[in-house]
Amino acid sequence: MAAYEYETHEYDVVVVGAGGAGLRATLGMAEQGLRTACISKVFPTRSHTVAAQGGIAASLSNMGPDNWQWHMYDTVKGSDWLGDTDAMEYLAREAPKAVYELEHYGVPFSRTEEGKIYQRPFGGHTTEFGEGPPVQRTCAAADRTGHAILHTLYGQSLKQNAEFFIEYFAIDLIMSDDGVCQGVLCWKLDDGTMHLFSAKMTVLATGGYGRAYFTATSAHTCTGDGGGMVARQGLPLQDMEFVQFHPTGIYGAGCLITEGARGEGGYLTNSEGERFMERYAPTYKDLASRDVVSRCMTMEIREGRGVGDEKDHIHLNLNHLPPETLDLRLPGITESARIFAGVDLTKEPIPVSPTVHYNMGGIPTNYWGEVLAPTADNPDQVSPGLMAVGEAGCASVHGANRLGSNSLIDLVVFGRAAAIRAAKIVDPDTAVPTPNPASIEAAFTRFDGLRHAKGGVPTAELRLEMQKTMQADAAVFRTDKTLEEGRQKMEEISAKQADLQVTDRSLVWNSDLMETLELTNLMPNAVATITAAAARKESRGAHAHEDYPDRDDKDWRKHSLIRFEGDTAALDFRPVHLDPLTKLDEGGIDLKKIAPKARVY
Ligand code: FUM
Repeated sequence: MAAYEYETHEYDVVVVGAGGAGLRATLGMAEQGLRTACISKVFPTRSHTVAAQGGIAASLSNMGPDNWQWHMYDTVKGSDWLGDTDAMEYLAREAPKAVYELEHYGVPFSRTEEGKIYQRPFGGHTTEFGEGPPVQRTCAAADRTGHAILHTLYGQSLKQNAEFFIEYFAIDLIMSDDGVCQGVLCWKLDDGTMHLFSAKMTVLATGGYGRAYFTATSAHTCTGDGGGMVARQGLPLQDMEFVQFHPTGIYGAGCLITEGARGEGGYLTNSEGERFMERYAPTYKDLASRDVVSRCMTMEIREGRGVGDEKDHIHLNLNHLPPETLDLRLPGITESARIFAGVDLTKEPIPVSPTVHYNMGGIPTNYWGEVLAPTADNPDQVSPGLMAVGEAGCASVHGANRLGSNSLIDLVVFGRAAAIRAAKIVDPDTAVPTPNPASIEAAFTRFDGLRHAKGGVPTAELRLEMQKTMQADAAVFRTDKTLEEGRQKMEEISAKQADLQVTDRSLVWNSDLMETLELTNLMPNAVATITAAAARKESRGAHAHEDYPDRDDKDWRKHSLIRFEGDTAALDFRPVHLDPLTKLDEGGIDLKKIAPKARVY
């Protein structure tokens, strides 16, 4: 065994990741008396949730009529009928409660004249089951909503005596021989010590894997660490082909310009100054769902109506809005536009292009956050001792496309749900199970192998190759040819991990080694994405397949699963949950209202 000493820590629950979902889970677990540790590779308030701008969806009805059924309908339609009905009902029903809890914890939401939480319109959120005008459902703290939530949840978690292990990198899950998760092995980045966290429940809240692509709104820390750890244990990843492109990343820089900009009245124009969304989505225009807007922008660019010297981007106009609105509602993007695009948005449009933003796929879970290890007999089989929440997980509430502002609400609703469930199934009075020595050894061996990797391919070079391939071949529009070429290229790129070169062998602040570990997490996420995309012969949500332009509910209304057997990505499927949580006569939604139909905005 690679000779590393390590310190052992025992908890009821260990949460890996301190973004919105990780902190909400940590807080909920600690509130309920479970001894809870939260491990994070960055300081909690630097987690990527801090970058979430526009807001959090909940049918509070502060700005006009709304209800959870309309929110659920929009989520179902947004998911292009791939979301699980029970999870989507849970999200929409629990959202108002979860937002009021945040308010009571101290989140400084923007306010209406009467002092209620301010809500703005966001793409795909409507009234009257998609028949009425856009709804103001997105609760906002100016355009720094994620920042406000993250700081509040961190403070509240400390108040509940949750313990934080900051700048600890999770290397691998520790699993018993019969598949029970027993905790996680970590590397403390600032002093090079190793730490084994044993727990009765391990919660992965590690965020998305946007950095598998060349241009993304995601932070450089979004490296799919949870998905990587799960894939190495032979557990599946679900619906990975669905990668969301946000319509308005700043051209070149990739930084997010919130959809709230369009919610507040901003609009897109092409090189002819035309508000082209009126042509594609006559009812909701610039507030159509994200995947739709990103595709329309790409079509305008393809047809030669992009702006700029290379006609390869689009303009987002906000200069018609009163400066007071920009100051009050959009101060963050006013600053981002100035710094990253050199634009004074009171005078000029912002150059924007569709940019990778969110992963609908992830670690499959039920709506309590319990990780699933589907079998032929039971597609909902739970993998004991393991949960996943937030962007790392796939509940599946967003299906093939997530609505804007349904991400922050997903974080808090399902972070909270995981805590409710853990309080039922984790017994604080039992002993923490003894971790499996063979699993600990395997984790150390992998770590040590990478630390001493003497191959010919530097980590940064291989990462760039992966990012460029994913950007080119698993893009907004896909074809059989690009996907199959991309899949083969990604197989070759992934195989080069055996020839990685790490030059720094130290253990203290070794960013070369940390980035290598992150690359080994990004890689299975990327391979799973392009493999599942190459397999799905239809267009649905964010998966726009030019050879199969229509949605095919008969053959493809099912979740894809990718499991790794060694280096080989094996494809499987599991059914979509069609049953709601609540029957109609008990106050549930009328299923006829959410039956599949053409998805137009
Ligand atoms: O546009 C935005 O503010 C992003 C929100 C989201 O992804 O939910």
